[in-house]
Amino acid sequence: MRRTIVTLLLLAFAQASAFAQGLPPYSYWKNQRGSEMKIFAVGPQGNFTGLYINNAPGYQCQGLPGFALSGRNSGANVTFTVVWNNGIQNCHSRTIWQGQMLNPSTLPTTWILVPASGPPLRGADMFTRR
Ligand code: BTN
Repeated sequence: MRRTIVTLLLLAFAQASAFAQGLPPYSYWKNQRGSEMKIFAVGPQGNFTGLYINNAPGYQCQGLPGFALSGRNSGANVTFTVVWNNGIQNCHSRTIWQGQMLNPSTLPTTWILVPASGPPLRGADMFTRR
């Protein structure tokens, strides 16, 4: 019995430690709209870069080659931005996502899409690690 409890505690600790590491580098995520996000390196201060492929119906700046993203991860908190200009397509807008990791493979976010002119748009995206 004692051994089982110790094993369970060790497992819980191992899971908590893995999660404490934050956003996994070189990870691939997809949201409920079909958009894809590739996280490259995550620096020691939590700064990260990546690639965002927008597949969300009803929006511009779709598909490949994608758009650079940059962000910051601190604990469970994740913030990242895409400027929708990759030199091929320019939507004259940017999106900022903010969220808290629920677990190592679930990142619910809210976002604000800011066009160069006109009112901002707000919404929510749920990213799942694939
Ligand atoms: C634009 O239409 O001005 C640029 C593309 C915006 C795509 C938005 S960002 C929030 C939402 N989540 C996605 O994955 N795509 C849309």
